[in-house]
Amino acid sequence: MASITGTRQVVLVSCRAQLDMLGKKVHKDNIIALSWHMPVSFNPVMYAIAIGKTRFSRKIIDESGVFVVNFISDKLEEKALFVGRNSGLHMDKWSKAKLTKEEAESVDCCRIKQAIGYLECEVASQVEAGDHIIYFGKVLKQELKKNSKRLFQVEGNKFTTTV
Ligand SMILES: Cc1cc2nc3c(=O)[nH]c(=O)nc-3n(C[C@H](O)[C@H](O)[C@H](O)COP(=O)(O)O)c2cc1C
Repeated sequence: MASITGTRQVVLVSCRAQLDMLGKKVHKDNIIALSWHMPVSFNPVMYAIAIGKTRFSRKIIDESGVFVVNFISDKLEEKALFVGRNSGLHMDKWSKAKLTKEEAESVDCCRIKQAIGYLECEVASQVEAGDHIIYFGKVLKQELKKNSKRLFQVEGNKFTTTV
């Protein structure tokens, strides 16, 4: 299998939906770690994220049509790893990773309070790309709260940051 190498910035995407689980409507607030993401348009401002088809977060975003991209500092390495190595299907990653919810303002979703910035997005379109789906999000609100060193994934559990 080909391996895709490259050092990439890690973001945490938060998502929320009411999902039908075993015949019951369940409120789910989840977080997924992503290193496959990028800006794709100035006007309107748009941002793309690639989510594996098997991820629980995919179900949530398909249901709600919204997501929040949370930019994080290198200090959140451990939390990012936890969020990126565990599924939210049977777990509340917010409490387990000790991340704090903050209501988003333009979409029905929450942001991560510890993040240094965020993009509140509404899904404008999506494209199937092999085993991932690329969601193109129209950015409805954005803020960079502070500038700080970001977290970058080198490969697997190896991370680095900017100088
Ligand atoms: C640093 C890091 C980067 C990751 N990048 C991606 C990514 O770009 N796309 C993706 O689908 N999964 C990515 N993952 C894996 C998901 O975060 C992981 O499968 C997660 O447990 C999915 O959670 P969920 O099932 O609650 O949605 C990454 C994991 C880590 C640790």
